[in-house]
Amino acid sequence: NKGHYDHYMQKEIHEQPESLTTTMRGRLIRGGSSKSKTVLLGGLKDHLKTIRRSRRIVFIGCGTSYNAALAARPILEELSGVPVTMEIASDLLDRQGPIYREDTAIFVSQSGETADTLLALQYALDNGALCVGITNTVGSAIARNTHCGVHINAGAEIGVASTKAYTSQIVVMAMLALAIGGDTISNEARREAIIDGLFDLPNKVREVLKQDQEMKDLAKLLISEQSLLVFGRGFNYATALEGALKVKEVALMHSEGILAGEMKHGPLALVDENLPIIVLATRDACFSKQQSVIQQLHARKGRLIVMCSKGDAASVCPAESCRIIEVPHVEDCLQPVINIIPLQLLAYHLTVLRGFNVDQPRNLAKSVTTQ
Ligand code: UD1
Ligand code: F6R
Repeated sequence: NKGHYDHYMQKEIHEQPESLTTTMRGRLIRGGSSKSKTVLLGGLKDHLKTIRRSRRIVFIGCGTSYNAALAARPILEELSGVPVTMEIASDLLDRQGPIYREDTAIFVSQSGETADTLLALQYALDNGALCVGITNTVGSAIARNTHCGVHINAGAEIGVASTKAYTSQIVVMAMLALAIGGDTISNEARREAIIDGLFDLPNKVREVLKQDQEMKDLAKLLISEQSLLVFGRGFNYATALEGALKVKEVALMHSEGILAGEMKHGPLALVDENLPIIVLATRDACFSKQQSVIQQLHARKGRLIVMCSKGDAASVCPAESCRIIEVPHVEDCLQPVINIIPLQLLAYHLTVLRGFNVDQPRNLAKSVTTQ
């Protein structure tokens, strides 16, 4: 049921304040005193000690689910102190890469039925790793075959392009980082700031969704382009990859997410006055590095669209030569949840304006159950 929306993708983008609220329900606890802010993930509580003691945490997934894990990686590294590595399921299988008994392997999958992810799960089980699932589908193969896990509870996702599952996956993995990090004194302020940020996140998502018309206007501007680059780094490298994935899969436009730190190692050659480039430059520890990326792209006459935190337009683009997308500021590890939303809206509007099928892009299936 699409309600008053034209498409499922549109409905699922706009229901993110509610889906995120459901994802967090009963799992974030804020008692009377500030000291009692905690996270409770029922499915993991008996396994946290083992996860903390593991030698490595390996995230395994495909497509959007992989990108969600990539967005959560920095906070998991920071709070757990355990090395975190990333595996695209098919690539792990192609290489038969090493997985050890001392590893915690975390399988991220909206459907819980993706063939490559399931085969990688079997491989990790055979190698004796602790296998944790993060899925949206109760009773799915991944939920059943992992040792433990967390349901993201985002509600059924119908549009082939994953939107609300992506943001709920990031939120679950941020909660996972809090749960694994435990209650060390040194992390206390950081932990509380993240929990407060999580409580307020649905409101901030509601705020950024108001950019719908602006994103439609931007889509009109980009409708006939051949290609779109998205530059991100740090917490928002994943946002660049995920934004580009949305644009290519539904709007059928070539798009590439680029790690901004790699700019000078090749991508800079593409920059001219025609190719549109989105630069993600919201406030975090990488902000000044992104400011310098913007200056360098600007010096090569790049056609820039800059996403920045509210009030930062002048600091990212003094010459008023670029288009600005201003988004609400949240705790750095939650910023990817906010930043992806204008890009989801952009991909949606581009698709509708270009006259393509939004909910069922050509050649794609919702659940990829074959290799
Ligand atoms: C569970 C109930 C929820 C109830 C809540 C009350 C289910 C599905 N969930 O939620 O309805 O409101 O208790 O306390 O009945 N699991 C895996 N692999 C996965 C995902 C989950 O093994 O990929 C396991 C978990 O380890 C857990 C069980 O499935 O044993 C349920 O997980 P989850 O729904 O996340 O647990 P709760 O949030 O505690
Ligand atoms: C993109 C998309 C795909 C899936 C991928 C994994 O919008 O939906 O990239 O994310 O096929 O699917 P799940 O998460 O079901 O394992």
